Amino acid sequence: MSLVYEDHGREVFACRDVDLEVGANQFVGVLGPSGSGKSSLLYLLSGLKDPSLGRVLYGGNDYSQMTEGERGELRLRKFGFVFQQPFLLGYLSVIENVVLAGANSRGRALDLLDRVGLREKAHRMPSALSGGEKQRACVARALYTEPEVIFADEPTASLDHTTGENVIDLLRTLRKGALVVVTHDPSMLEDANRVLRMEEGVVTEVV
Ligand SMILES: Nc1ncnc2c1ncn2[C@@H]1O[C@H](COP(=O)(O)OP(=O)(O)O)[C@@H](O)[C@H]1O
Ligand SMILES: [Mg+2]
Repeated sequence: MSLVYEDHGREVFACRDVDLEVGANQFVGVLGPSGSGKSSLLYLLSGLKDPSLGRVLYGGNDYSQMTEGERGELRLRKFGFVFQQPFLLGYLSVIENVVLAGANSRGRALDLLDRVGLREKAHRMPSALSGGEKQRACVARALYTEPEVIFADEPTASLDHTTGENVIDLLRTLRKGALVVVTHDPSMLEDANRVLRMEEGVVTEVV
């Protein structure tokens, strides 16, 4: 599939002729410079954007055959997301932010917060957490629904190296399904099953 943007009448291929299948439990890393199309690839894989050419299937079903509601439901129930900036609702406590993802179980949320080292801070407001702690709360939220796929878009980019590695390790070890991580930093992908490289929208397999 391809994703083409129009920029002042010029075509920009954010993704170009990508032919990719992510296996059920794979940890797939995506490396590439800024602007190479990494976020666009995640948007296509998660059904957030429609390809300009070609198709994207999830579990054999074409996203273009699903309604917006069905896609939204899929993202909410089956996918987990972690972004570069930790998105937490500032007016809810950490545990409330985790439970927000569905499957109303505070016990489960607390268990996950324990695993990411935030049990003691579960009832704090996000503003009382460090950047690394906020990101770990987002990791707990992404894991909470036991998603079939976690999409992480530069989840370590705003963290120091060790804190970043810790976030990747938590995603890798606590996940129940596939993990797709976009990053600038190859050392975050040492345990990945596959490493892809993006360059001007083109994906090549490194490992
Ligand atoms: N909404 C948009 N409109 C036009 N061009 C876009 C848009 N979003 C991204 N692009 C362009 O698509 C290319 C890939 O962007 P992106 O997927 O965000 O790359 P990355 O995540 O690797 O930094 C870039 O050239 C970017 O400028
Ligand atoms: Mg990006």
